[in-house]
Amino acid sequence: MEKVSVKVCLGTTCFVMGSANLQELIEIVPAKYGDKVEVSGVPCLGLCSVDWEFSKAPYVKVDNEIIKEASVEKVLAAIDAKLAK
Ligand code: FES
Repeated sequence: MEKVSVKVCLGTTCFVMGSANLQELIEIVPAKYGDKVEVSGVPCLGLCSVDWEFSKAPYVKVDNEIIKEASVEKVLAAIDAKLAK
C-alpha cells in the first residue's frame, strides 16, 4: 500500500494563520500511523497567493487533496479517510 503523504505548509502566510499549531502533526502522525503516513513541513505551497482574497490558510496537502483552514482534527480526519479506502 502506498503511503499517504501529508505536507504541512510552513510558508509565512500559513504560519501566521496558524500552521505553527499544525507542526504538532509532525509528531502526532508518525506516533499514530507509523510508516503508513509520511508527514513533512514544506515551504509555501503557492496556494495562499492564488487564493489570497479569500485566504483559507493554513493549508495542508494530504496526497492531492488540499485542506483549507487546516486544523489537526481536519488533517487526521483526512488521513483516516484515505486509509479507509
Ligand atoms: S504560505 Fe502556505 S500556501 Fe503560501
